[in-house]
Amino acid sequence: MTEREGLVVTIDGPAGSGKSSTAREVARRLGFRHMDSGAFYRALTYGLLDAGVGPGRWEGLTTPDLEGVGVSVQPTDMGFRVLLGSRSPEAEIRSSRVTAHVSRLAGLSVVRSWLLGIQRDAGRAGRLVADGRDMGTVVFPGAEVKVFLTADLPERARRRLTEQGVVGPSAAEIVRETARIGERDRGDSERELSPLRCPEDALELDTTYLTFEEQVKAIMERVREVDGLLRQA
Ligand code: DC
Repeated sequence: MTEREGLVVTIDGPAGSGKSSTAREVARRLGFRHMDSGAFYRALTYGLLDAGVGPGRWEGLTTPDLEGVGVSVQPTDMGFRVLLGSRSPEAEIRSSRVTAHVSRLAGLSVVRSWLLGIQRDAGRAGRLVADGRDMGTVVFPGAEVKVFLTADLPERARRRLTEQGVVGPSAAEIVRETARIGERDRGDSERELSPLRCPEDALELDTTYLTFEEQVKAIMERVREVDGLLRQA
């Protein structure tokens, strides 16, 4: 930890809890980099599918296979850009096809170990807000500030649909999205490796009834409190 120049803030939580948008805004206010670790898992999923390597072949994947996909991570001023070869597949990695398969790939030990190195390298200098499922428990267990965001499942489904541009989602659409997110929650929480867990020392925020500004403020307060304590020490 001594080689770091600044704090690491981790924000974990289930799908649709608002982690990435919250993390991005907290990073912007602090002048830190934002790392959306889900994008790394998504890019690998997309790269494999795009290369014609379907889920039926994923169990046998090796580290050289993963390296061969061509996914890399480049630091930018605000965060990290995920590349597939030389292009940035930002839209493709958010597609429903990738969303439907990513949790399965994320359950593989070879995938988690490979991405662990990439994530830790990216966070080595600190001044980072990292969001995902295991940021506070596995990737950055020494992070100074840990947050766990939750929200009721139907509310998370409503937010996901709104994010996808659905205006005033119907009850039927919310029920369908609730089932999809519930399925992904199960995959992410029940897997053996790095399952979604609230880190012991985390600030747990249920955002069901919080506005975006309220949740960002609560995290900023915690960061200032910890930063103040560290400066006094
Ligand atoms: O946050 P997201 O929906 O973009 O994440 C996509 C998938 O990646 C999610 O289903 C679980 C996996 N993931 C993970 O296992 N660990 C992380 N740190 C981040 C994401």
